[in-house]
Amino acid sequence: MQEVTIHNAVFESYISENEINNAVSAVANKINEQYKEQDVVFIAVLNGSFMFCADLLKKINLKCEVSFVKMKSYEGTETTGKINELIGLSEDLRGKAVILVEDIVDTGNTLERLSEILISKGVKSAQIATLLYKPEAYKKKIPIDYVGIEIPNEFVLGYGLDYDGLGRNLSKIYKLKHH
Ligand code: IMP
Ligand code: MG
Repeated sequence: MQEVTIHNAVFESYISENEINNAVSAVANKINEQYKEQDVVFIAVLNGSFMFCADLLKKINLKCEVSFVKMKSYEGTETTGKINELIGLSEDLRGKAVILVEDIVDTGNTLERLSEILISKGVKSAQIATLLYKPEAYKKKIPIDYVGIEIPNEFVLGYGLDYDGLGRNLSKIYKLKHH
């Protein structure tokens, strides 16, 4: 498919399955190398990272656990403003080496909140693996340890990423077409 249309927005083919597969392999190889003698807990951030996480973990040859979390945002009081809460984390992460698995890092807001939460749980270390990264949009200081593909500030869809809830099932990545 060269183009997909969702709610009147047209997306054009951008990153092929082959390119995605190569990027996933490169990330997996780096993690396998870095964590040779260590146990790891992978924590994937739903919903967007489900596809990347599945493909990545098939290429990981370490002794590891996998867990899934979700960021839930809601409006707090006037003083607290917007609150992000992490749901689904049941394991005791104290002293563990954790790798967060993200579909995409954009402004970095989600990531910053997640790593604060992990640090408060007493993890031994927290690294970040993301399939896509938008360096032009990133506003935080936290290093992003493993990046599959850097992209410009475009809105992308597919391979887990959605537009208004749709398009996550697409096996390659599309970008919003500008007229
Ligand atoms: P951040 O907190 O700004 O880094 O954004 C993180 C979340 O926004 C991602 O995990 C995605 O769910 C969503 N997001 C950011 N950019 C895109 C995009 O281009 N397409 C689809 N979702 C996106
Ligand atoms: Mg996400």
